Amino acid sequence: MSTWPANLQDLEEPASRVLDPVAYDYYRSGGGDEITLDRNRDAFARLSLLPHVLRDVSDLDLRTKLLGTPTSLPVAVAPTAFHGLANPDAECATARGAAAADAIFCLSSLSNTTIEEAAGAVEGPPGWFQLYVFRDRELTRSLVERAEAAGYSAILLTVDAPVLGRRERDIRNSFELPGHLTIACVDDHVGAPEGESGLAAYFASQLDASLEWSDLEWLVEISGLPVAVKGIHRPDDAERAIEAGAAGIVVSNHGGRQLDTVPATIEMLPPIAEVVGGRAEILLDGGVRRGSDIVKALCLGADGVMVGRPILWGLALDGSDGVRRTLNMLRIELREAMALCGAARLSDLGPELIATV
Ligand code: FNR
Ligand code: LAC
Repeated sequence: MSTWPANLQDLEEPASRVLDPVAYDYYRSGGGDEITLDRNRDAFARLSLLPHVLRDVSDLDLRTKLLGTPTSLPVAVAPTAFHGLANPDAECATARGAAAADAIFCLSSLSNTTIEEAAGAVEGPPGWFQLYVFRDRELTRSLVERAEAAGYSAILLTVDAPVLGRRERDIRNSFELPGHLTIACVDDHVGAPEGESGLAAYFASQLDASLEWSDLEWLVEISGLPVAVKGIHRPDDAERAIEAGAAGIVVSNHGGRQLDTVPATIEMLPPIAEVVGGRAEILLDGGVRRGSDIVKALCLGADGVMVGRPILWGLALDGSDGVRRTLNMLRIELREAMALCGAARLSDLGPELIATV
């Protein structure tokens, strides 16, 4: 691209012009009336920052570890399905872009490249693996084993999608994967009868809607890797996740794509962080678009954030380099927001930086 957009929000419009319209609709959609999709952004905008001044911010340090994985900034790539709709190198390109930005990549179970191909695309460890539990439990177990063998360093179990949210654009478009793309790790096709979302039909037939807390215990038991639970909305469920052995909680509403009208994630973070009380790590995603959003999430108790759609826009616009640039824009904004808050370290970000007036 000749002129690269100035911020993450400005990536979407040019990306919409290079993507196939059906793929763009799939990427951008929220569930139902897309009320939660909008809320995720609005809630960040409603929070005011209350900066400290006259603090030495000449030497900023954004480095941290998330779920045991070292990273140069507290921002990971959220697991999103089907990167082959945005770039021919699919998840391999995304993994490379994240590695170039020294950020953590998370591979979706519903990727167009296999667990091993995505891992092979980068020199170091590939990042995290997001797990959907298939009805076939041995198949599920094999995915966990493959991720571990390929060098992934944590498992994110997604729990907010026992059925797929109702995305009306996908229904109208009869969303399906083009013939050359598959759900690579299980080698399945996603096709749709007229007037249905092929992905919703795939979820209904292949994924396990009977998942319960005991299954989280099972996963913790069979996995040699730390397990984080993605899609926690409530403090009591965060508590249960910790009791079941989770090393991390991802406060997430799936980017507003599942149950519509749930609160924004940043609104639910403070009560969840209070219950967690440092016993597990906390990640948050949904509407993170600005460095100041990351500051707000860390002030209110998150250890890190994940970013979904903007990574897909960056990937569509310029492949792995677009992913790298997207993450680096967030790094620049985060550095600026921290400096202007008087915070030189991530540990300097606390609730007193959020205005209560
Ligand atoms: C997702 N998300 C998701 N989550 C997951 O656990 N497994 C998956 O395969 C997918 N797939 C997926 C596809 C697309 C196109 C989107 C936009 C999202 C949810 C994702 O991990 C994350 O929770 C949200 O994207 C975060 O919100 P933002 O940053 O997109 O607003
Ligand atoms: C989605 C699924 C794949 O949000 O998680 O489309």
